[in-house]
Amino acid sequence: MPEARQILVTSALPYANGSIHLGHMLEYIQTDIWVRFQKQRGNQCVYVCADDAHGSAIMLRAEKEGITPEQLIAGVQAEHSADFADFLVDFDNFHSTHAEENRALATAIYLKLRDAGHIATRSVTQYFDPDKGMFLADRFIKGTCPKCGAEDQYGDNCEKCGATYEPTELKDPRSAISGATPVLKDSKHFFFKLPDFEAMLKQWTRSGTLQDAVANKIAEWLDGGLQEWDISRDAPYFGFEIPDEPGKYFYVWLDAPIGYMASFKNLCARRPELDFDAFWQKDSKAELYHFIGKDIVNFHTLFWPAMLEGAGYRKPTQVCVHGYLTVNGQKMSKSRGTFIKARTYLDHLNPEYLRYYYASKLSRGVDDLDLNLEDFVQKVNSDLVGKVVNIASRCAGFVHKGNAGVMVDANPEPALWDAFQAAAPAIAEAYEHRDFGRAMREIMALADRANAWIADKAPWALNKVEGKQAEVQEICAFGVNLFRQLVIFLKPVLPNLAVAAEAFLNVAPLSWQDHELRLANHLLNPFTPLMTRIEPAKIDAMIEASKEDLAAQSTEAAAPAGNGELVKEPLAAEIDFGAFAAVDLRIALIEKAEFVEGADKLLRLTLDIGDAKRNVFSGIKSAYPDPSQLEGRLTLYVANLAPRKMKFGLSEGMVLAAGPGGEEIFLLSPDAGAKPGQRVH
Ligand code: 2FM
Ligand code: ZN
Repeated sequence: MPEARQILVTSALPYANGSIHLGHMLEYIQTDIWVRFQKQRGNQCVYVCADDAHGSAIMLRAEKEGITPEQLIAGVQAEHSADFADFLVDFDNFHSTHAEENRALATAIYLKLRDAGHIATRSVTQYFDPDKGMFLADRFIKGTCPKCGAEDQYGDNCEKCGATYEPTELKDPRSAISGATPVLKDSKHFFFKLPDFEAMLKQWTRSGTLQDAVANKIAEWLDGGLQEWDISRDAPYFGFEIPDEPGKYFYVWLDAPIGYMASFKNLCARRPELDFDAFWQKDSKAELYHFIGKDIVNFHTLFWPAMLEGAGYRKPTQVCVHGYLTVNGQKMSKSRGTFIKARTYLDHLNPEYLRYYYASKLSRGVDDLDLNLEDFVQKVNSDLVGKVVNIASRCAGFVHKGNAGVMVDANPEPALWDAFQAAAPAIAEAYEHRDFGRAMREIMALADRANAWIADKAPWALNKVEGKQAEVQEICAFGVNLFRQLVIFLKPVLPNLAVAAEAFLNVAPLSWQDHELRLANHLLNPFTPLMTRIEPAKIDAMIEASKEDLAAQSTEAAAPAGNGELVKEPLAAEIDFGAFAAVDLRIALIEKAEFVEGADKLLRLTLDIGDAKRNVFSGIKSAYPDPSQLEGRLTLYVANLAPRKMKFGLSEGMVLAAGPGGEEIFLLSPDAGAKPGQRVH
């Protein structure tokens, strides 16, 4: 037996201000399959992750919701954890970057970098919002494009003509947070001197740590010359204050990757067999793998290894980069219903279907991966249900009826058994190299051979022939053994199916090495269907639910979806006073606010409108991940809107909110003193 490897694995830390969608899931499923494979092989493999909880976006969102950033990130962490668990992503730890371990590590790393001379300071001039009293990141500044004159463009690039520019070049700039005209202001910033690490990075990026395509891209950057990296942000900011520098905070991307270490450190406290230093010290023998998407390569292959080097830690063994997800050949789209949240998928479909589909299409390359929904149905039904599960269901009945559930000792086709044995190293190698598509093809080729052999032997026909029952038992015991082999090989991808199969097979959890054994004179448990086919109607329902989310959001939150920017909406056609007066606006007290089962965007609100109670479904869930925070709050309510029958029940009226949508929805509230039922004039 080779010595067990020590392996620490991470996936990118999701931001703590949005829901997980199927694009995110590509990475977590890819990583989880690799981790499960390593564990099944007997290696000591640890998989950590965390929410990426810092930054101005999170601070501003919390402020608008009237809660603390800590409350906001706690709600999102609970949502993320549930999504990952239900997709069978088995983190050893899911922590947060806003944690004491991370504060201590970020501070220590910064001080080591500073004391070694790798930190520079200089004054930076930036736009400042005088109303909010804060510096504005580029995405919080809007104005007119200096090149083509398009209005309402972001501070760094124009969506109309594609030009890139400095925020100071924008015409008529304004703060997307307050609408105020920003002013230029100087401030001291802290820089990490990345060029100090150029020689190390040139060597490290070419030492087998990266896929070739990624290493080539990085080489272009390295050849172009490295810039110092601005790692500070001024208060107000949600993050960690820089030691000895009151009012200066670490930029979110400084402490985010340190969050990998912090999550591991947090885990070490409850797993005594794990030694933090053994994994992170400079000469560590342990392996370290980061799985990331191609959009964040520079952070992981330049800044992060340089920070680790400068602070005296080990560097990653490999950074494993994947491409983006498309759905039906296109970018995920809210209007087409292909922007599918993890929870919406889970409301309709078994997570193992997607795990298998992603596995079947993943290679070690950085190409984008397409989730073609027709192909998805076809492949899962044909491979998993039609090929793999079918072998067990064809054979189990005969073993139960003909031999009281006992598998006889039989190897009626040694060449086939040997072919399964011979395939194991190639399948393992494909997993090891993240070529899951090749692993799945090898496994399905074995399933095809097993099915063809059983079809040829036709135990169902043989069983009717006098004197052939012993042969039937040999065929079916062998068939169940071949099924068991396939379960071992598929276990990293289909952990739930493996558990159900282990129960049917009446065996302990299957390790990779178990493929060398053949069950003989072994009692099976009753067979229950291990996986059912995907019904195409479920796909349609999932797409509809993803569209419905959007409809709910735009009709009921009274504003179109957006990314948090100030959206300039054209004014609606003029109405006369009579038309306005016909709207019966009232003050309502939110007595109860709850999630709606099966609805991604909706909250169910029970309103006290003075003399009556009303039930309203409102598309504001994305902005209020913890609905209880709304309870006891007064808001404005359209009392005479015709009731609307929805899938979840009758919605009696509408509450009023502002904002572009998504997380940026702001329920309107009256001044203190207003009473439920009062008419709004
Ligand atoms: O791009 C993102 O979603 C970041 N939140 C990823 C952070 S990964 C790590 F460096 F923390
Ligand atoms: Zn332009």
